[in-house]
Amino acid sequence: MAKQRLDRRAEKVLAGGVSASMRYHPYLERTVYVTHGDGAYVWDDQGNKLLDFNNSNGATMLGHKYPAVQEAMQELLSKGPVTAGESEEHVKLAERLCKMIPSAERVRYASTGTEATSLALRIARHVTGRDKFVKFNGHFHGLSDAFLFQPRDTFHASAQPQPVSGGIPMHYAFDSLSVSWNDKEAFDHLMEREGSHVAAIICEPVWYNAGCVPPDDGFLQHLREAADQHGCVLIFDEVLSGFRMAPGGAQEHYGVTPDITTLAKALANGMPLSAIVGKAEYMEELAPNGPVAHSGTYSGHPLAIAAANAATDVLSKKKTYNDLNKTAKWFYEQLQESFDAANIPVRVQGLGARFGIYFDREEDVRTSEDAATNDHRLNAAFVKGCIERGIYFHAYRTAGAPGHSGITLSHTREQLEDALNVMQDVAKTLSR
Ligand SMILES: Cc1ncc(COP(=O)(O)O)c(C=O)c1O
Repeated sequence: MAKQRLDRRAEKVLAGGVSASMRYHPYLERTVYVTHGDGAYVWDDQGNKLLDFNNSNGATMLGHKYPAVQEAMQELLSKGPVTAGESEEHVKLAERLCKMIPSAERVRYASTGTEATSLALRIARHVTGRDKFVKFNGHFHGLSDAFLFQPRDTFHASAQPQPVSGGIPMHYAFDSLSVSWNDKEAFDHLMEREGSHVAAIICEPVWYNAGCVPPDDGFLQHLREAADQHGCVLIFDEVLSGFRMAPGGAQEHYGVTPDITTLAKALANGMPLSAIVGKAEYMEELAPNGPVAHSGTYSGHPLAIAAANAATDVLSKKKTYNDLNKTAKWFYEQLQESFDAANIPVRVQGLGARFGIYFDREEDVRTSEDAATNDHRLNAAFVKGCIERGIYFHAYRTAGAPGHSGITLSHTREQLEDALNVMQDVAKTLSR
């Protein structure tokens, strides 16, 4: 089969057979080769048309080949894009972000989410003169060295984190402090002990990388107050939550404003663009005005900026979210009912355009420990059954929290209704 041939070719020339480790699908035990996408669908190299619930890891929130984004990029392509240069389009996008995102007084572009979170931490360390930072167990902030630590034992989440990759200097572990999400008591305890050494508190304000685990009522406000009390910088990593349920992301939705925010993914509907936005007093510490280094040949690549101007034109409109949030709520309720009807213990949690499915779980998923109870055997059987019937879910791991899924502005109710019927049939085939 062509698929197997491509695997064999890939293995000989791509390290590990892939361009990013998480593209290997651990449930299917193979790579899904994608040829193209249109609206809510992607096509694999076998010509299969798949309803896409991955949306490029959440990057294509408008859907694939979204006409306004396509047109903006094609127009620029025909003119001749020049990288490593500033343009009016960069300014225009920044002006719009400063209106949309509550914490945004200044904007700096980069290319990836990983670059954005690293830079946010660098700014925080500079302005506080401290090295340590607090993160939440399982929250994903990209793959830079500082963030590649997890507590060894998730049930003692405040234990000293261990590296989760080879090649990470062990002494970095002393700067990385980690507690369970929504565990106010553990967080307070950690801050009492370490607060005066902490440069930043960083979180995914909605923990979408574990499906969808929202903050408890008042939890984000509690982080805000703790940051103020201890003189640290509050960073919301909105790479995934940005634009997802409101034009201003989770900070608008929950009414809590961080000092610095990181954005990517939906920002340019899948083109490589990220942004670090925040208070002017912090952001002006960046070079050339201040001593915090940041530059890059591809930072704010003009093609990605063109895509982002077109995408945020849609994402800045309240009406977009009236429709999206209504469809999303309806879909998540129906999906929960489909599993209930199939008599499979599953918890569906969703907010705005992204959701998580927790297998062998009936109670709410609130904490890092809760998310880790996902039954991956059932999850894998569901995902395999779905792809055979034309529905694509991605998976990132075979233990711990489940992967994340989403809908886009291009998913219609009709497509979702068809998918619900298929998913209910698949659920009925699962055995506990
Ligand atoms: C919340 C969050 N932060 C950071 C990143 C890293 O972004 P990138 O893959 O663009 O480096 C991701 C990627 O999934 C993310 O979801």
